[in-house]
Amino acid sequence: MKKREDFYKDIDIFSRGAKGFSPFIIDILRGIEREFGGVDKDYLVYIKEKFQVEEKEILDTVKMLNIKIMEIVEAKEIRVCLGIHCKARGSQFVYEEFSKRLGVDEGEKTSDGKFLLNIQRCFAKCNEGPNVKVADKFYSNVRVEDVKKIIDENI
Ligand code: FES
Repeated sequence: MKKREDFYKDIDIFSRGAKGFSPFIIDILRGIEREFGGVDKDYLVYIKEKFQVEEKEILDTVKMLNIKIMEIVEAKEIRVCLGIHCKARGSQFVYEEFSKRLGVDEGEKTSDGKFLLNIQRCFAKCNEGPNVKVADKFYSNVRVEDVKKIIDENI
C-alpha cells in the first residue's frame, strides 16, 4: 500500500527535467486513483508545478481518464505524549498501537489524509498519563485497548 508521500516522491522523480506534458502524469494519476479512489487538488497543483504544465491540461487529462476529483480532507493531528512520566505509564505502547492501526510513523499522514501522527514531549498533565490529544480533544489514562475507540470516534 502506497502512502500519500510516496506519490509526491514519484512526482518529484518523474518530473525531473520535465517541461510540459508527459505520459508519466497519466501513470501517476492512475496510481493515485488506484490507491485513494480519486485525486485531490493538492496533487493536481503539485503535478502542475513540477511538470510545468497548464492547469487546464491536467484537468482535461483527469476528465478524459474519468478520474474523480476528491475534496481535501483536513487531517486531525494525533499527539501521543512520550515524555518520561507518560512513558513510565506505558505511552510507548499506546503510540505503537496508533502507529500500527494507522499505518504511519511520526510526522506522517494516513493514506486517506484523515490523521497525522505526532509525538508530544509533555502536556504538563503527567499524573494523568498516558496522555493523547486528537485535534482539540484530550484523552488521559489511555490504554492500548482504547486506541481503536479513539480513532473510531474521531473519523
Ligand atoms: S510526560 Fe506526558 S504529560 Fe508530562
